[in-house]
Amino acid sequence: MTNKWFETVAVAQRRAERRLPRSVYAAIIAGSERGLTASDNLAAFDELGFAPHVAGLAHQRDQTTTVLGQTISMPVLLSPTGVQAVLPEGEVAVARAAASRGVAMGLSSFSSQPLEAVTAENAPVLFQLYWSGSRETMVRRLERARAAGAVGIILTLDWSFATGRDWGSPWIPERMDLRAMLRLAPEAIARPRWTWSYLKTGHVPELTTPNMAEPGAAAPTFFGAYGEWLQSAPASWADVAWLRSQWDGPFMVKGISRVDDAKRVVDAGASALSVSNHGGNNLDGTPAAIRWLPAVADAVGADVEVLLDGGVRRGSDVVKALALGARAVMIGRAYLWGLAANGQAGVENVLDVLRGGIDSALLALGRANVGELTRADVIVPPGFTRSVNP
Ligand SMILES: Cc1cc2nc3c(=O)[nH]c(=O)nc-3n(C[C@H](O)[C@H](O)[C@H](O)COP(=O)(O)O)c2cc1C
Repeated sequence: MTNKWFETVAVAQRRAERRLPRSVYAAIIAGSERGLTASDNLAAFDELGFAPHVAGLAHQRDQTTTVLGQTISMPVLLSPTGVQAVLPEGEVAVARAAASRGVAMGLSSFSSQPLEAVTAENAPVLFQLYWSGSRETMVRRLERARAAGAVGIILTLDWSFATGRDWGSPWIPERMDLRAMLRLAPEAIARPRWTWSYLKTGHVPELTTPNMAEPGAAAPTFFGAYGEWLQSAPASWADVAWLRSQWDGPFMVKGISRVDDAKRVVDAGASALSVSNHGGNNLDGTPAAIRWLPAVADAVGADVEVLLDGGVRRGSDVVKALALGARAVMIGRAYLWGLAANGQAGVENVLDVLRGGIDSALLALGRANVGELTRADVIVPPGFTRSVNP
C-alpha cells in the first residue's frame, strides 16, 4: 500500500492536481483577473523573517486558544469554502477532521452538504452567510443554523462579482445533465480514481446549494443561489448591525482590509473579524491580507477578536500572523488540497503539518504558548505593511 501521508501542503497540492479533474482543480485555484492578490497572499508571508534563539527554549509548548467562545487545540480554523466537488462527502469529511483535531470550521452557505449533516459530526461549526436575499430569508437561514447547532455566524462581505481570469475559468454546468456529463467525460475519464469515488455512491456531483433552500423547497443550483446574491442590494453598515442583532452568539465579519471598515465592524457589535480578501478571489490588486493585519490589530484588537485568512500554507505562516496581531488564522485552499489528496485523513494531515510547524517555530522563538508571541518575534521589512484610514 502506498503511504498517503504528506509532509507539506505543497505536496498535498501536487497530489490534488494529479487526482482532481482539471475543472475541479481550477475551481479551487480560483483567483481573479491577473491573480495579483492571490499571489501576494503567498509572497507576503515569504517577506517576513524570524530571528530564532538557541538556548533557554521552552520544553513544553501549548497551542490551545479560544476563538469565538470555542476552545480549540491550535490557532487554526477551517475557512468556509463553497461547492466542494472534491469528493462526495465534502464538508462532512472536513467536519470529521475538524472534530478529530479539535478545531472549528466555517461552513459555506454555498456548501454541497446540508448544515445538519455537518453539525452532526460534532465539530464547532460557524455557519457562513452572504448578504443575499430578503431580510426574512436571512432570518430563516439564521434560525436553521441555530436549530442545527451552529455555534456562530460568519458574515462574508468581500465579493464584487468579478468574472474574468487571465488563465481562463473552468466551465461549471448549471446541472449535471447528460449534455454536461458528455462535455466533462474526457476530464472524468482522465481521473478514474476521482470518478470512481462518485460512481460508487451512485451520484454525480449535484452542484446544488442545500443551505440556500427555502423551507420545503428543493436546493437551488449554484447559479440559482448565485443569482439571488447578485441581485441583492449590497449591505449597508446598518444592515450588518441589524443582522448581528438577529444572532445571539458569536458573530464574525469576514473580508476586512481597511482600518475604517474594521472600526465599523466593532460599531456593528460583531465579536470577531477576519482580515481577508477571499483568498484573492475578490478585487484583484488588493494587497495581501497579512499586510493589512498589523494596522487593523492595533486599531481594534482590544475590541474584537482579529483573525486572518489568505495564503496560510505552513505552521510558520500561522506564527507570523499571530505575532502580527491575529488571534488565530483560517485556512482555505490548504485543507481543500488535503481533502483532495486523501479525504478526511488528508485534512487531518494538513492540520498536523501546521501543528508541527507552529510547534517548531514556538520552540525556536523561545515561546511556551501561542499567547506569548509578539511583534518582536518577526522581522518585518520596511514598507511591508499597508493601511488606509481616512
Ligand atoms: C474554492 C474556494 C471557495 C471559497 N468559497 C467561499 C465561500 O463560500 N464563502 C466564504 O466566505 N469564503 C469562501 N472562500 C474564501 C475562503 O474562506 C478563504 O477566505 C480563502 O480561501 C483564504 O485563502 P487561502 O485559500 O489562501 O487559505 C473560498 C475560497 C476558495 C479557494
